[in-house]
Amino acid sequence: MSYETILVDKRGSVALVTVNRPDKLNALNSTVRRELVHAFGALGADDSVRAIVLAGAGEKAFIAGADITEFAGRAPLEQRAAMRTDSVYEAASQCAKPIIAAIHGYCLGGGCELSMACDLRIASEDARLGQPEVNLGIIPGGGGTQRLPRLVGEGYAMKMILTGDFIPAAEALRIGLVEEVVPREKLLERALEIAGKIAEKSPVAVRLAREAIKAARRTGLDEGLELEGNLFAVGFSSEDKEEGVAAFLEKRKPNFKGR
Ligand code: COA
Repeated sequence: MSYETILVDKRGSVALVTVNRPDKLNALNSTVRRELVHAFGALGADDSVRAIVLAGAGEKAFIAGADITEFAGRAPLEQRAAMRTDSVYEAASQCAKPIIAAIHGYCLGGGCELSMACDLRIASEDARLGQPEVNLGIIPGGGGTQRLPRLVGEGYAMKMILTGDFIPAAEALRIGLVEEVVPREKLLERALEIAGKIAEKSPVAVRLAREAIKAARRTGLDEGLELEGNLFAVGFSSEDKEEGVAAFLEKRKPNFKGR
């Protein structure tokens, strides 16, 4: 499928997906959402791709939120239908491959929510993150009220969502909303480097580990440990486990096949 509003660039085993509406600060309109959902599905199913980097085009923004022009005059049922079909947040969160958000400039509203639905977030020093929906008389609807407190705790989530204030990259790092901050010119390089490192690991192990970590949000400790034990044992059925262990014993680099 060819896309209108996103760019997909496969670089070996890493795919770079760029939201490409820089004149609208990469705001998520229905076309961007639909195309991202398609791309995450297609890259998830593509065995040659092992990790994805999500970025925004232009100098000003990763993604400045949902496209506000689509809200005007929209009826509740219409809005509900738009959110239920093809949720870009669920598509990111449930993508079969890990997604790293490379965040520069504005990362607001749905942009911040989409970054939180990714596996991890690398920001550049100029990044400004926020959930400003309250300024429009609405609340976050892309998982912000749920994923933000899980990442940063209830107090910081309240502060960001109730004030609508944007926070700089350094503060986002301090509260755990992003995992690393790098100079602007190093952002893509660093995100691709981390994706490349993940891509070298066993895809089976990466998949099982992600499943176990994501389960930690919804399970109690005992149930989570039970699941981890089961997934650990499932990993022993893979050729990658035989290869990884053999490579260690033979003092060589493993060559993981994802089987
Ligand atoms: N939806 C639709 N269009 C958006 C947008 C959004 N979320 N964010 C920015 N744009 C558009 C602007 O309308 C403008 O379009 P125009 O040139 O046709 O007028 C263009 O992107 C550039 O934005 P502009 O506002 O001129 O840039 P700025 O540097 O002055 O301000 C922001 C940047 C991010 C502070 C400001 O654009 C903003 O507040 N955006 C909305 C953020 C938001 O509330 N997001 C959550 C939505 S739920």
